[in-house]
Amino acid sequence: MTEVRISINGESRDHDVDPRTLLVHYIRETRRLTGTHVGCDTSNCGACTVLLDGAPVKSCTVLAAQADGAEITTVEGLATNGTRSPVQEGFRQKHGLQCGYCTPGFLVAATALLEENPDPTEQEIREGLEGNLCRCTGYAMIVDSVRWAAEHPEGHVPTDTAGAEVAS
Ligand code: FES
Ligand code: FES
Repeated sequence: MTEVRISINGESRDHDVDPRTLLVHYIRETRRLTGTHVGCDTSNCGACTVLLDGAPVKSCTVLAAQADGAEITTVEGLATNGTRSPVQEGFRQKHGLQCGYCTPGFLVAATALLEENPDPTEQEIREGLEGNLCRCTGYAMIVDSVRWAAEHPEGHVPTDTAGAEVAS
């Protein structure tokens, strides 16, 4: 066994893990954070994407032991005090959430994309998310959702004092 100390969404824990344990299994089974999914066995789908020290990684390609000392953010850590992040709100506004299985990976990957490039073009969004597969209706609404988040970095549509939406 190998002892690891891994912080996930701001909570640090020590565990003894089998050295072969994949980070995705550690996240799901040891830490009980099941928003991160295993969607393939080929490192292709991106459903397992998390942030490792701020960088998006496919957690099925990383050993838990390699994440010793790291700060991980999973989809459960994107909201702040119960408030959806701009990307989460964008998926709600533009109907990017479809099957739900791949969505956590898209949310995490899009968060990392906007962190690096706050104003991406459609092409840049598509390239930024090409490591994440959607097997159902396609990517148009997902791209729209990320654009919405880029255009609303505060995470909501601004309103005037009467509560009416105003152009941002
Ligand atoms: S489960 Fe990790 S890429 Fe598919
Ligand atoms: S929305 Fe999940 S596979 Fe398409």
